[in-house]
Amino acid sequence: MVADLYQRIQQFYDGSSALWEQMWGEHMHHGHYGPHGTHRKNQQQAQVDLIDTLLSWGQVQQAAHILDAGCGIGGSALYLGDRYQATVVGLTLSPVQAERAQARAAAVGWGDRVRFQVADVLHTPFEDATFDLIWSLESGEHYPDKAQFFRESYRLLKPGGQLLMATWCHRPTQSLAGPLTEAETQQLAALYQLYHLPYVLSLPDYQALAQEQGFQTIRAADWSEAVAPFWDAVIASLGQWQAISGVLTAGWSTLQGVPALFLMQRGFASGLLRYGVLSAHKPT
Ligand SMILES: C[S@@+](CC[C@H](N)C(=O)[O-])C[C@H]1O[C@@H](n2cnc3c(N)ncnc32)[C@H](O)[C@@H]1O
Repeated sequence: MVADLYQRIQQFYDGSSALWEQMWGEHMHHGHYGPHGTHRKNQQQAQVDLIDTLLSWGQVQQAAHILDAGCGIGGSALYLGDRYQATVVGLTLSPVQAERAQARAAAVGWGDRVRFQVADVLHTPFEDATFDLIWSLESGEHYPDKAQFFRESYRLLKPGGQLLMATWCHRPTQSLAGPLTEAETQQLAALYQLYHLPYVLSLPDYQALAQEQGFQTIRAADWSEAVAPFWDAVIASLGQWQAISGVLTAGWSTLQGVPALFLMQRGFASGLLRYGVLSAHKPT
């Protein structure tokens, strides 16, 4: 099951990353359009602003050794390496992404300080207490065992180290809205299929997992409003000939991603999908 999921994730990113980079740049995540999603800006600026806003929300002052868990083509890793003058290791399931990310690090002369490899973030090859900061930006939705991610992160962090993550969630189910309806469950299932996600959780579920693992100073926030314009921007840019021909030549896995864009847009608009951020520390 997990091997099959990982193979699908790998194929998806191997096949679609070059097109994404060409069309939308080095960051493969949402943008931040101000706290209420009302700030007008271009999509790439919005993506950099999301990183900056997450770092300031997480109050990250310094970090010498950083793990980018689910690194894409290294957009965050290079940014964090520069900002904190840190050593960064980025992990991805996609050899195409790892190679491209490493080439980008080499191009700016950081090939020895910012490294990328193909490895599972749930079972990494690193020793205990290696990192000051673990950064997981929109890769958590792919993890087949979310509890294991918190377990492994806790193991890898130095005492006092910080986990900072942003991930797609479904709406909380402990409120008056109650459990997910049949229609909501079906909508999520379609998205899981198209984006190769095993499942997503609600933000309170993620907080509970962090707590069970022993993390402290756990903070969480729902940024759905702030990122809401993102899918409109991506869908609008699909009309460009470059995008149409790129999607058609990138293959079936990428083509399947197109209806998923509309499902994401609909999911956020209805409140079923949420954008959750979480910060947690390993006790000193
Ligand atoms: C949507 S991309 C986000 C990339 C990057 N964080 C960014 O924001 O530009 C998801 C990334 O998570 C990685 N990923 C998903 N599950 C993973 C796992 N179990 N181990 C390592 N990487 C994983 C994928 O290979 C991909 O690079």
